[in-house]
Amino acid sequence: MGRLDGKTVVITGAGRSTGRALAAALADRGADVHLSARDKEQAEDTCRFIKDVTGSSATAYSCDFADLGSIQQFVSNLRAKTPKIDILINSAAMWLSGSFEATDDDHLIAAVNSTVTGTILLTKHCLPLLEMSEDPDILTIVSKSGLALEGQSEPNAAYHATKTAQTAFMNRLRQTHTHIRVMSVFPPDFESDLEYKSSAWSKQPSPGKGKTMTARHVVEAILFALEQDRICTLESLVLRNSASC
Ligand SMILES: NC(=O)c1ccc[n+]([C@@H]2O[C@H](COP(=O)([O-])OP(=O)(O)OC[C@H]3O[C@@H](n4cnc5c(N)ncnc54)[C@H](OP(=O)(O)O)[C@@H]3O)[C@@H](O)[C@H]2O)c1
Repeated sequence: MGRLDGKTVVITGAGRSTGRALAAALADRGADVHLSARDKEQAEDTCRFIKDVTGSSATAYSCDFADLGSIQQFVSNLRAKTPKIDILINSAAMWLSGSFEATDDDHLIAAVNSTVTGTILLTKHCLPLLEMSEDPDILTIVSKSGLALEGQSEPNAAYHATKTAQTAFMNRLRQTHTHIRVMSVFPPDFESDLEYKSSAWSKQPSPGKGKTMTARHVVEAILFALEQDRICTLESLVLRNSASC
């Protein structure tokens, strides 16, 4: 029995990378996981993976966070499956590489729509289900780019803007919705393409230049925050690659 036993968790961006690994780790700890990807087949693939690795069932949904209708449909589908949400995890976000002036307009609009507007709309539409929980949590995987004084080296100013907006939204939500634990996670660049409990999962990153943390470190930090006693809210988890390891 894990500490998340019986908790209903909704997690976005779980068709691949960190969201998929985190969804599996949550199911492994007894959570009832509802997960989304843009492509329903990808979400279903994660559910099959979770079943294989943990023996637990999870529920798959499709949602494009750049599309209001898709978000409304997602929440309506959630309502049909669960009377409450205990934990909402915002992992989906659109990465932008290169300089913002070289990024085409459609990509800039899609990034703001999905990462900023999508996070806000999903949270808004999930609030009634979160209010049905005795112990509601909202956790967003932001980025070190979402910290005001960091991320200047980020190549794309628009990505920095989307992540800073997520930070501001979560900070305000924490003030206005004091009965909800609102948590933000700020990882640096990390290796996210890692399957939960694969042979690479527990490997230490190789020492030396270019070493980086992996999805395992991010997932373990998130589980640590979620599994704290209710009295304790870890509002901001800032992760750094240690220079000395
Ligand atoms: N990896 C890093 O170095 C790093 C560093 C700091 C913070 N982060 C944050 O950590 C989280 C996970 O990152 P990651 O690297 O594991 O993910 P990733 O490999 O960059 O994949 C992005 C995820 O976001 C989803 N997504 C993108 N646009 C979407 C949209 N319009 N609607 C719905 N879903 C959308 C993708 O879904 P599809 O599968 O449907 O495309 C995918 O699941 C993100 O919030 C990211 O910003 C990552």
